[in-house]
Amino acid sequence: MPIATNEPLSGLATLTDHERQARQALDEKTWAYLFGAAADELTHRRNIEAWRELELIPRVLRPLAGGHTRIKLLGRERPHPILIAPMAFHRLAHPEGELATALAAAALGAGLVVSTQASCRLEDVAGTFLPGADRGPLWFQLYLQPDRAFTRELVRRAEAAGYEALVLTVDAPVQGARDRERRAGFRLPDGVRPVNLDGMRPPGKTGISTAQSALFDDLLLQAPTWEDVSWLRSITRLPVLLKGVLHAGDADLAIAHGATGLIVSNHGGRTLDTAVTTVAALPDIAQAVQGRIPLLVDGGIRRGTDVLKAVALGATAVLVGRPVLHGLVNAGAQGVAQVLRLLRDELEIAMALTGCRTLADASQSLLAPATQKKIRGLPEIS
Ligand code: FNR
Ligand code: LAC
Repeated sequence: MPIATNEPLSGLATLTDHERQARQALDEKTWAYLFGAAADELTHRRNIEAWRELELIPRVLRPLAGGHTRIKLLGRERPHPILIAPMAFHRLAHPEGELATALAAAALGAGLVVSTQASCRLEDVAGTFLPGADRGPLWFQLYLQPDRAFTRELVRRAEAAGYEALVLTVDAPVQGARDRERRAGFRLPDGVRPVNLDGMRPPGKTGISTAQSALFDDLLLQAPTWEDVSWLRSITRLPVLLKGVLHAGDADLAIAHGATGLIVSNHGGRTLDTAVTTVAALPDIAQAVQGRIPLLVDGGIRRGTDVLKAVALGATAVLVGRPVLHGLVNAGAQGVAQVLRLLRDELEIAMALTGCRTLADASQSLLAPATQKKIRGLPEIS
């Protein structure tokens, strides 16, 4: 299916327009799962606000001819710094699910991170994405399963299918308190399931007493630890990025355990509510990492200006979550393509108006001093 990438869907000029329309189209239960966050959803809302509150200082009359959005990521040049965050069950948003997302991402040069809990087979998603001529990176997101033999097999499948890196999500050993989901009574509908986990041995029941904790005495007995990062490195030739790091100390540990990249993320506010925003966490982590490994960030990116600010604060690239699902709800592959196109077009506008010919020109000096003071860890510019 060809995708017309520059014909706007009527009435949809921004990612927020896509959100509004998607909300009208979805029932309350599905909305609660796809777009909800943990507890009071404060971190989710603050993620979005934090990017908006950073103020940019325009620069004028700089030469901009020949500018571009290209970046180098894990040794390869890519068209722009926007990737699709790993998200479970795209088929909740559209019957074609991850296949539609992959088609759009490949056409628009965006990276794609496919979730362990995808609702389409990882091989089929790769088959749709990889032929894209000027495509972005294709990565597989991993939740380490208690069944480590199964995890190893999943890694092998991802390698064989052409995935270029693994993204180990480390911020969700347990689901956050998903109050909105429980209130709405969300259940996966028939026909939508994590197909890539078919055949996995279910975790054994430990038979805990009522005095014991269902978390600490059962579920978390199998939770991954730093040793598992080394284990994962030892069983794969693929780069391993850790997703969900918010503390500079954890960034150091990640590098010590062989991580080849980091994604600063609070899971879009879906795990620990009142967790620090990714805007606040990014500068400290960039300082700790000192460019040793690539740094990415996600959570609340809704505008091209947000992408530029992320790069200015030290990220090589960003991941975008919910807006992609909004586009998918609204118009399948076409809708995702439009969301990606809007974001990239806005990024180019923001670059031009701040005098950045390339993303290498984006630094903290793009941000107003008052804005810099608000962000922890940033020295003020003299
Ligand atoms: C997610 N996220 C997520 N992360 C992950 O590592 N594995 C996963 O399977 C999922 N699943 C998932 C489902 C849904 C419906 C959402 C909304 C999110 C988190 C995701 O990768 C990302 O960190 C956030 O969505 C980024 O925030 P924004 O862009 O949605 O604000
Ligand atoms: C979520 C899990 C799948 O955020 O990561 O819903």
